[in-house]
Amino acid sequence: MFKFARAVLLGLFLGLYALAHDNSGIVKYSSVEMYEPTPMPDRIVLTWEDNPATTQSITWRTDTSVKKAFVQIAVANASGRDLNPDLFEAKTLFFQSDINQAHYHSITIRSLNPNTLYVYRVGDGVNWSEYFHFKTASSYPEPFSFIYFGDAQNEVRTHWSRVFREAFRDAPRASFILHAGDLVDIKDMDSNWGEWHEGPDWVNATIPLLATPGNHEYVKYSEAKRTAPEISAHWQPQFVFPIQNIPDERLKETVYYLDYQGVRFISLDSNIAQEEQVPWIRSVLEKNPNKWTVVTFHHPIYSPGTDRDNPHLRKLWKPLFDEFKVDLVLNGHDHVYSRTGDLAGAKVENVPNGYQQAYDPDVGTVYVVSVSGPKMYEFTKGNYAKKILEDTQLYQIIKISGNDLRFQAFDATGNLYDEFKLKKHKNKPNQLIELSK
Ligand SMILES: [Fe+2]
Ligand SMILES: [Fe+2]
Repeated sequence: MFKFARAVLLGLFLGLYALAHDNSGIVKYSSVEMYEPTPMPDRIVLTWEDNPATTQSITWRTDTSVKKAFVQIAVANASGRDLNPDLFEAKTLFFQSDINQAHYHSITIRSLNPNTLYVYRVGDGVNWSEYFHFKTASSYPEPFSFIYFGDAQNEVRTHWSRVFREAFRDAPRASFILHAGDLVDIKDMDSNWGEWHEGPDWVNATIPLLATPGNHEYVKYSEAKRTAPEISAHWQPQFVFPIQNIPDERLKETVYYLDYQGVRFISLDSNIAQEEQVPWIRSVLEKNPNKWTVVTFHHPIYSPGTDRDNPHLRKLWKPLFDEFKVDLVLNGHDHVYSRTGDLAGAKVENVPNGYQQAYDPDVGTVYVVSVSGPKMYEFTKGNYAKKILEDTQLYQIIKISGNDLRFQAFDATGNLYDEFKLKKHKNKPNQLIELSK
């Protein structure tokens, strides 16, 4: 009996020791230390709450000793001297996370010149970040590219960072980066967000991002389904997105649109208030002066998982995408890659309710599901898709130029997996040109 108790105690001790030490015997650096804010700005992120041609929103984090925070901004020059930057004071917000207290600072700089390279830094007047560049959009249609990521979500520091960096190396001049939800796994865990900021690091301070929330930005692990879903407490402090006549307060900074050089980008929230968004979707599609329309939200219209279909969402939103011939719909959630395309009129099986064509040449909308993190699901119903792939971390680069949209999906090692082109013709649906085998 005594021997047994001693064995249990020894086991317990070794277990606790293993928690704090890795195999080499070195004490593990805890997430409290790793993600502790300091007076020096970190998690610097560019987003837009208004026109990308004339405004720029900036957010960052410090510890709570920083009571006042500022931005210095000027038109960039090649010498770095005689900048004479303008100084603006940011809004400062106290934030209590699960492991620390922080101040989040945010500001929207207005009246900027279109198509202009700016230099800026953030700080408290003593402790400044380095200077970063950003470029405002043109005020008229011009070619540009952007990067699109499906769910990062799991093992973000370990396995997502390399995907982000590969994408950046492939498209270093991308105008912005679009995240289609499930950026993190546990929405209110500061270390999850800390990991998410590590891969992009300074890139988020120089290339703006658009994000739409996934279910993991809503669900709390232990409280799943027990309380009304609420967006991650980190969402609004660290991103600044537009607020545009949304039908429900809860959709603040999750449902919005931004016009960028001839393309309307629409973020919808597939997690809550799906019906309430219908009139809003109609209004932003109806009054859309742009040639192109790209819609993003987390849950797919066409799911490659038998048990993951979203028939309600498809019934509610797809008729609007059809009516207004949305060009491209970018989703996540299913942790595989799937992309619709012309299957030569074959009536293919859709999940799980009967048969229909996921790609309709009379409409032309292309639906994409992708994944950038390492968590993978299997596809169980893929025959509605032109391209379908499992077990692969991916990033996508999309280039829009006049009447052409070129879409490329690369795997984490930079191999091109999927490529197609959409071509606009007057008063006709888009022509879909397949470029990969
Ligand atoms: Fe996910
Ligand atoms: Fe998800």
